[in-house]
Amino acid sequence: MRQVGSDNNNTIMPRFSKAVSSLRSSEIRDLMTLASRPDIISFAGGMPGNELFPVQEIEDLFKGLDIKKKRIAFQYGPTPGLPSLLESLSGFLEKKGLPVHTNRLLITTGSQQGLNLLGKAFIDPHDPVLVENPCFIGALSAFRSYDAELKGIPVDRDGIVMEALQQKIDQKEKPKFLYITPYFHNPAGLLYSTERKEQLITALQGRDIPLIEDDAYGDLYFYEEDREQLKPIKAINPEGIEICYTGSFSKILGPGLRLGWMLVPEEIYQKCELIKQSADACSPSFTQVLADEFIRSGQIYSYIATVRQEYKRRANAMVAALREHLPDYVQWNEPRGGFYLWLTLPEETDATKIVQLAIEGGAVFVVGKTFDPAGKRNNSLRLSYCNNTPEQIAEGIPIVARAIRQVCG
Ligand SMILES: Cc1ncc(COP(=O)(O)O)c(C=O)c1O
Repeated sequence: MRQVGSDNNNTIMPRFSKAVSSLRSSEIRDLMTLASRPDIISFAGGMPGNELFPVQEIEDLFKGLDIKKKRIAFQYGPTPGLPSLLESLSGFLEKKGLPVHTNRLLITTGSQQGLNLLGKAFIDPHDPVLVENPCFIGALSAFRSYDAELKGIPVDRDGIVMEALQQKIDQKEKPKFLYITPYFHNPAGLLYSTERKEQLITALQGRDIPLIEDDAYGDLYFYEEDREQLKPIKAINPEGIEICYTGSFSKILGPGLRLGWMLVPEEIYQKCELIKQSADACSPSFTQVLADEFIRSGQIYSYIATVRQEYKRRANAMVAALREHLPDYVQWNEPRGGFYLWLTLPEETDATKIVQLAIEGGAVFVVGKTFDPAGKRNNSLRLSYCNNTPEQIAEGIPIVARAIRQVCG
């Protein structure tokens, strides 16, 4: 009999594909297992606040559904999404100025699936793919799983660094696409300036390099005056660039629904729909029905307004604690929305040493190299304030600051 994974000499190893053979569980994951102690204060996860979910509202919405809708919730649905949700979500996205009528909308199983579908649609093994450095880890792993050659481009306070991008665009081997997270970046927390978006549009126009614009956090702004800056590039709708816009219900309703979307040009939609058919046939009807009702009842708008305020309060608590406890040589952003704060430490610092000490002290975060496409640069770290109360933040940040001083002096 075939014995997979047994330790006798006749062990037969599964013959995995080349693309997935290089996927490894990282040391970060091992560290995180250590950090699952119940008494530890975690600034590690990018998770919405547990106690902020609209549990009662969703319960009431489900109870209020007629039997026909309840049955739809239990049934398979069309691959692109339930028509009713496609319609209500189109209205939600149209308010952001997105061109829902000249593009196609596809419901995905989280926006993570959207990134995966796009990766599968575009990437052949060793194809160059441009990403920001640092970059959202889920995007890195989705593109890695198709054996992409990831090319990291640094970011500054205003977005991707244009000179570095231009250099990569001009190279002989044309990149398959560029992936960016311009609105409350994960992990760097930054918000692209209007000027940088314009420069980016100019650089990509007519170059046949599609842009994947990931807008998972744009609704979670803290300041009204930033709204113009939050206008998606997809909404600017520049000619001569294929833009694949992805979004998610995860941060504005709950990641447990596993619902996201992509708004893409027709030909890309056609391919992604086919790929999705083979991946999961359809996204969960149950949560699609609930998300649809949440939008149609208007509660999505009041709910987002409430959580925005709460995340701002948490971000402010973290900023205050960092101001009080961090040494001057640490650089960091003051968040204007989203979930994250990014700390940059002196050049040679190894953030893994800091996190080990912090865990001993009772706090945890994610080290910088997790988000480096090359997996190396480690003089930075990500702190999330989203799933902690201001009190927990006030207690946890001194532990992080102490660990930094112990390592950096
Ligand atoms: C930038 C970004 N994009 C996409 C996702 C994926 O979210 P989901 O698959 O839950 O929609 C996340 C989750 O943390 C994220 O931070």
